[in-house]
This record gives sequence, C-alpha cells and structure tokens, in this order.
Amino acid sequence: MGKRRIGIVGYGNLGQYLVQQIQSRGDLELAFVWNRTSSALEGKVEKPCILEDLNNFAEREADLIVEVAHPCITRDYGERFLAHADFMIGSPTAMADASTERKLRAAASQNGLYVPSGALWGGEDIRRMADRGTLQALKVTMKKPPESFKLNEPLKSKNDAVKSDAVILYDGPVRELCPLAPNNVNTMAAAAVAAHNLGFDKVQGSIVSDPSLTDWHVVQVDAWGPGNIEDDTAFHCQTIRRNPAKIGFVTGSATYASFLSSMIGARGKGPGVHLC
Ligand SMILES: NC(=O)c1ccc[n+]([C@@H]2O[C@H](COP(=O)([O-])OP(=O)(O)OC[C@H]3O[C@@H](n4cnc5c(N)ncnc54)[C@H](O)[C@@H]3O)[C@@H](O)[C@H]2O)c1
Repeated sequence: MGKRRIGIVGYGNLGQYLVQQIQSRGDLELAFVWNRTSSALEGKVEKPCILEDLNNFAEREADLIVEVAHPCITRDYGERFLAHADFMIGSPTAMADASTERKLRAAASQNGLYVPSGALWGGEDIRRMADRGTLQALKVTMKKPPESFKLNEPLKSKNDAVKSDAVILYDGPVRELCPLAPNNVNTMAAAAVAAHNLGFDKVQGSIVSDPSLTDWHVVQVDAWGPGNIEDDTAFHCQTIRRNPAKIGFVTGSATYASFLSSMIGARGKGPGVHLC
C-alpha cells in the first residue's frame, strides 16, 4: 500500500504538530500545508509542500485533507474538499450551522467526512445507541479555569467577571453554544454528530469557569438510555475525563495525541460521516 498523502489546512498549534508527526512517519506523506499567511511556513515547511492558494488544493492529490484552522474554512471549503478527498474536520463546531451540516453530509457521498472525537469519551458507544434509537439524552459538561476559555459575547464578560468561585457560563443546547465558544466546544460538536438521533438541538452542553482548576480541564459526559430519566431509573453512563493542561492553554496536552490518533484512523470507512 502506498503512503497516505495528507494535506494540512492551518499551521497553528495543531497544524505544526501534525506536520511534524506526518514527516516522522513512514506510512504518511505531506501533500501540502496551507496557512492564511504563507510567510509563517517559510523555513519551516519544504517549499514544494507549501500551498499558496487553497483554491488549488486538488492539484496536490491528497488522500485526506485535515482542517485545523477555523470553522469558516470548513464552511467555505468543506464541500469542495470532500469532492476530491477524505476530509477530517478539526473545527466541527462549524456543523452547528444547519446549512453547513446539511451541505457537508450531502457532499460525503464519495469520500468520508471524519469527525475527531477530541476529548469525548465513549463516542462510538454513543453513536451505537443513536443508531439503535436508544439514546434518550446526552449532556457534555466542560470545566476549565477562566484563562482557558476563548469566548464571544455575552459569555466573554461573564467569564471575565469570575473571581474565586466556579460559575456556570452556559447550560443549554450545543447548537447555540458553538458560535459563542467555537474553540472550546469541539468535543461537544463531536458529541452532537455521534448522537445523530438528538443532534445539535437536543444534545446539551454546559461550560463552567472554575479558577481552582489550575492543572486540569475536565470533560464530563452523561448519556441516558432506555428507562425513566425523571425518577432516575433510566440507563445512565457518566464518564469524567481529566485532561492535564497548563493554565491559559485552550487545548489540553492529551488532545494532541488524541488528534493524531484520529488523523491516523481517518481512513477506509468509505462515504458518510464517521467519528475517528
Ligand atoms: N476537534 C478537536 O478536538 C480540536 C482540538 C483543538 C483544537 N481544535 C480546533 O482546531 C483549530 C486549530 O486549533 P489550534 O489549536 O491549532 O489553533 P491555533 O490558533 O494555534 O491555530 C489556528 C491557525 O488557523 C489560522 N486561522 C485563524 N483564523 C483563521 C481564518 N479565519 N481563516 C484562515 N485561517 C485562520 C491561524 O492563523 C493559525 O495558523 C481550531 O478551530 C480549534 O478550535 C479542535
């Protein structure tokens, strides 16, 4: 089997890490790297691998394109990427926009749309329950120190006012939370994709700004299956993941390794939308 050719869109923290990993592995090959400002790539990426104009991505014949830039890149290019290659969406919060989700799902008719599970534990189990229609409710709660949130208003002011006590900044549908915290809630967007019978409107998300969490980001997933949720007799699975993270970092360190595994696993599933 030939080397899998990977195109990287975005050269920030994740992009740089992935490029380095691709170059250090024998089974992967860099098809291209694109960044909004190509000067950031000079001297760091070999010239032939630099893609100046993203509109010319198809010439590079990537097998897999990985977006690690911004939700707007997925919104604007996702469909086109999928017409030529498998596509791994690093910013799945873009799919909270109903028309983007519809377009991407429709475009995944020849190649696969791969959604990295990120900090989501049990994503495949959630998807299986969604497939059977047994998933009744799903909630993802994310707790981080105030410095680790990158928020839009009105959540930004709420977070700026946090002093010593933990404050719930948001508790409601993931659909509305994604545009308010696009960099923080990729995991919740992955959960909404996995829980396809509930989707972005019914999967609940909560973010808690907690100054005492100086060493960790905490992600809690609560899934409810058959039974009565009201009287607490329904199937309920709760996982709590503590991801070591330095203060002020939006992305926890375990997320890099998880993202790499997702990229390596983003292959061979054919058309459709897949968690990876
Ligand atoms: N799915 C996950 O589990 C997960 C985990 C971490 C980060 N992410 C997402 O992946 C993306 C990259 O994360 P990162 O930690 O590398 O971020 P980063 O800020 O370090 O890098 C982002 C890169 O994209 C570029 N960029 C920013 N806005 C842009 C725009 N409007 N158009 C084009 N380029 C733009 C920046 O110049 C930079 O090169 C973000 O969207 C982030 O939310 C996803």
